[in-house]
Amino acid sequence: MLDGITLVTGATGAQGGSVARRLLASRQKVRALTRRANSRAGCLLREQGAEVIAGDLADVGALARAMNGCRRVFGVTSFWEHFGTETVHGKNLVDAAREAHVEHLVLSTLPSSRRLSGGTISVPHFESKAEIEQYARASDVPTTFTHLAFYFENFLDYFVPEPDEHGLLHFGFPQGDTPLAGLAVEEAGAVVEALFRERGRFLGKVVGVVSEELRGDQYAYLLGQALGREVRYDHIPAEVYAELPFPGADDLAAMFDLNRRFVLTRADDIALTRSLHPTMATFSTWARAQRPRFEDVIAKRTKRD
Ligand SMILES: NC(=O)c1ccc[n+]([C@@H]2O[C@H](COP(=O)([O-])OP(=O)(O)OC[C@H]3O[C@@H](n4cnc5c(N)ncnc54)[C@H](OP(=O)(O)O)[C@@H]3O)[C@@H](O)[C@H]2O)c1
Repeated sequence: MLDGITLVTGATGAQGGSVARRLLASRQKVRALTRRANSRAGCLLREQGAEVIAGDLADVGALARAMNGCRRVFGVTSFWEHFGTETVHGKNLVDAAREAHVEHLVLSTLPSSRRLSGGTISVPHFESKAEIEQYARASDVPTTFTHLAFYFENFLDYFVPEPDEHGLLHFGFPQGDTPLAGLAVEEAGAVVEALFRERGRFLGKVVGVVSEELRGDQYAYLLGQALGREVRYDHIPAEVYAELPFPGADDLAAMFDLNRRFVLTRADDIALTRSLHPTMATFSTWARAQRPRFEDVIAKRTKRD
């Protein structure tokens, strides 16, 4: 049992939601931060036993008040909603944690793409989180950093397999044949809970949260097995992907290019993650459990076309 209250930011979203649900399931006291305390997600968290409070990551005073009386904080920032402002939000989390004398901040960040690539690739949503990480390291706030891999759940929104004219399902990104590290983000909460429990061991450390790493064709094969339909992976060159008509396509293209050329394996992260959460779902287990959701999103795409 972890004593005291844990503030979970992003509690209505993927990472924070997973942390909040996991801590509540372990009968921990959770204070959940959201901008809209009476939204459907906020009400659901309240029903599940969380204390739900309104606050914005842009407001450092509100964050410090939210952390008042909390021993631990899970912090996550949203690049895709705020882009450049994400860095300010992350620094606010660190400043508020210092002001509230929080004993342990677990902060979701990512490595510097420039450092990993010897200065050749810059991925904005990695750089902003690397800057937050550097800021936290320079502070005296006791912090652990989590680096989550690609969510398997992305196959249900950003990378839904689309049928071609023969009915074969395809998805694609600029990953070539390099394995792509992934995890079911719903399970990240179990790893974060383990980090809170083993605070001393992980202070100042980076924990890569990864379930397994698979090539694109392996994801396709396993998804096909789960759906009972053939699924194919197509490598899309980064320069082609970067020109796709949606905001952030160039950022994602750079991220895959970084992974393809400079992150050849995350075997050590897989071993550590599995030691902290031995029953973490593999892609195959996760995809089989998600079959109804896949059928639903694929049917919607098929109708739309
Ligand atoms: N997708 C991936 O594969 C992947 C992998 C690794 C890392 N990431 C990183 O994960 C981050 C996003 O995390 P997620 O997937 O958990 O996000 P998400 O599901 O989109 O949810 C975003 C959460 O942030 C909260 N939020 C946003 N702006 C806020 C603000 N100004 N003040 C207070 N709360 C705010 C939202 O709460 P309310 O709306 O209720 O206020 C919501 O709970 C991104 O920065 C991304 O780069 C993603």
